[in-house]
Amino acid sequence: TWTMVNIVEEQVERIREQIGEDGLAICALSGGVDSAVAAAVVQRAIGDRLTCVYVDHGLMRKGESEQIERDFVAATGADLVVVDAEEQFLDALAGVSDPETKRKIIGREFIRVFEAAEADILAPKIAAGSHAEGVKMAFLVQGTLYPDVVESGGGAGTSNIKSHHNVGGLPDDLEFELVEPLRTLFKDEVRLVGEQLGLPAELVWRHPFPGPGLGIRIIGEVTRERLDILREADAIAREELTRAGLDRDIWQFPVVLLADVRSVGVQGDGRTYGHPVVLRPVTSEDAMTADWARVPYEVLETVSTRITNEVPEINRVTLDITSKPPGTIEWE
Ligand code: XMP
Repeated sequence: TWTMVNIVEEQVERIREQIGEDGLAICALSGGVDSAVAAAVVQRAIGDRLTCVYVDHGLMRKGESEQIERDFVAATGADLVVVDAEEQFLDALAGVSDPETKRKIIGREFIRVFEAAEADILAPKIAAGSHAEGVKMAFLVQGTLYPDVVESGGGAGTSNIKSHHNVGGLPDDLEFELVEPLRTLFKDEVRLVGEQLGLPAELVWRHPFPGPGLGIRIIGEVTRERLDILREADAIAREELTRAGLDRDIWQFPVVLLADVRSVGVQGDGRTYGHPVVLRPVTSEDAMTADWARVPYEVLETVSTRITNEVPEINRVTLDITSKPPGTIEWE
């Protein structure tokens, strides 16, 4: 629509002004719509002076990393650095079952990996630049939306300067200024801007997905084997939801692996002692409250049959029919 074209053009102008003729910017892509749209807008404004960083922590769902590495890049022409940090994250998570500890570890490792990447990317660009007086400022792109701005009580121009932790190779006095092209937008407007910019529909319409990823959808310790099992089951559930045309009726559809629970089953010729998964489809307006989604029985039946047929480690599929409150959307 006209309005969305205007929003994009207006933001592009504003960003060019903020970043200037030779400023350098970095954006962390999470795999979600907000960071992708924010990066795409900034890319349009300053081209290759923006570098996007995607930290692959190994906790994403099937196909999501490829969506960023291949489809996002194809759609935007953005300069993308992918950091394969799966091993580092899994090593750090080894032996950990407590949900909050998992979150802390994942958050900590993310910052470590991202800051190292930031230094690797910026240091040579700064060294190669024509900045006689030295670069004092780099720009950090964030997909902050209007509701986040309101929630944090921040008006325009609030303290948006961040100093970097002293990681190797960057000038000591370098500061980061935030660039937030989505600060005035609501989620549905962000999606329209994303479509306007030609981002892939699966990315633009993706359901919310937690930062710690599948790490908090495995009840118990997170291992590569368990992640692979959950990825297969989750992919089937998502595929069938899409096939049924229900994506936009459902807020989120977590699939949760009860990795420390075993249940007896019969599959093929013999008894099995496998794991249950929980389907947790919910409807919601804002994730503060939610209701369990009345997904049609036929769709649930297909999901159940396919998961137990196609994922040998899973021999039981259960449905969570708890609203929020009292149950949260995620299990951890
Ligand atoms: P709950 O489970 O509290 O989730 O009902 C509410 C919303 O928040 C998401 N969620 C998270 N998002 N990091 C995130 O970025 C997290 O640690 C996290 N935990 C929950 C959840 O998916 C839902 O959309």
